[in-house]
Amino acid sequence: MSDIKLDFPGIQVHLTKHEIEQIVDAIISAKTLTMGPRLEAFEDDFARYLGSKYAFGIANGTAALELAGQILNVKQGDEVILPAHTFTATALPFLRRNAKLVFADIDPKTFVMDVNDVRRKITKHTRVVVPVHLYGLPVNMLDLVRLANEYGLSIVEDCAQSPGASFNNQKVGTFGDFGCFSFHSQKNITTLGEGGMIVTNNDEYAEKILGLRKIGQRPFASQQKYWLPAMSNIIEAVPGVVPNNFALGEIQALAGNLILRRLDRQILMRYKMYEKITNSLLHHKELVFQHFPKECLSAIHLLPARFNGQIFSKTRDDLIELLYEKHGGEGAVREVCDLILKMHYR
Ligand SMILES: Cc1ncc(COP(=O)(O)O)c(C=O)c1O
Repeated sequence: MSDIKLDFPGIQVHLTKHEIEQIVDAIISAKTLTMGPRLEAFEDDFARYLGSKYAFGIANGTAALELAGQILNVKQGDEVILPAHTFTATALPFLRRNAKLVFADIDPKTFVMDVNDVRRKITKHTRVVVPVHLYGLPVNMLDLVRLANEYGLSIVEDCAQSPGASFNNQKVGTFGDFGCFSFHSQKNITTLGEGGMIVTNNDEYAEKILGLRKIGQRPFASQQKYWLPAMSNIIEAVPGVVPNNFALGEIQALAGNLILRRLDRQILMRYKMYEKITNSLLHHKELVFQHFPKECLSAIHLLPARFNGQIFSKTRDDLIELLYEKHGGEGAVREVCDLILKMHYR
């Protein structure tokens, strides 16, 4: 089945014609467009795929992190350790809760959080560590879980860029108290624009997520007399937390589930592309690619490289300026990526 190419280079995953037909079919025939069977199926399949006890569809990855912060009751005076190199959304939910953000260095070879530096940053106020499996590559979760257990810290995994990645054959998102995924259109799974998933193995946390993710309303099935105490069955799931509406729609859930079914194949394909591109650039000694430790299977979300311009007395900014001048506009870096792809894959 041929892919339908959406004319925007930022979209990473293309839907096949058959998948689009299924989506159109669902739009026409769905009995509900929210909180229905397609969301339930996506959650079940996602949890089974990861090997986690629970998975809940969420409006986006930031909302998933937000819920984790709310449920762990992160508050002013608490310290949250996160990597110095990540996307801003990793930090925002904890910043909003007035926690002190403490940045741990990344390992210059893997570009992800250095667990040795996390250890150095722990104080008596540290409550939570947020490993980010950046660009698809897992943080060393064996060492991090050991460290967290030693100090009684909670772990919130930011898996926005890494669905399907694993460490020692265990999928990321299943090591910590929470795993938070993003299905934004530029991610490896897309739910047609925005979307996410929060996973946990903890029964109590799962109950709280159910109570918080949709304006405090629980599924009626869990309340025998749904009209009591009132029609809108809002229950205070976490003391002091006013719930949001973080629900994921039915059609979005279906799109996510269709892509989930071919996620492993897609990762393999991305590995092949990654090898081809990096091998063809080996003569560029100034480019340093991400090192993949043997315990890690990356989801190959992006293909990052560090630019070591000392050889030419140039900085990263000089390189970007050069690309900008050559290719113009905001698409300079994308242009180059596209050129590389054209050279090698079309
Ligand atoms: C590392 C990281 N964390 C969190 C997020 C937030 O996800 P979302 O855009 O779905 O809110 C993203 C992506 O945008 C991300 O790349």
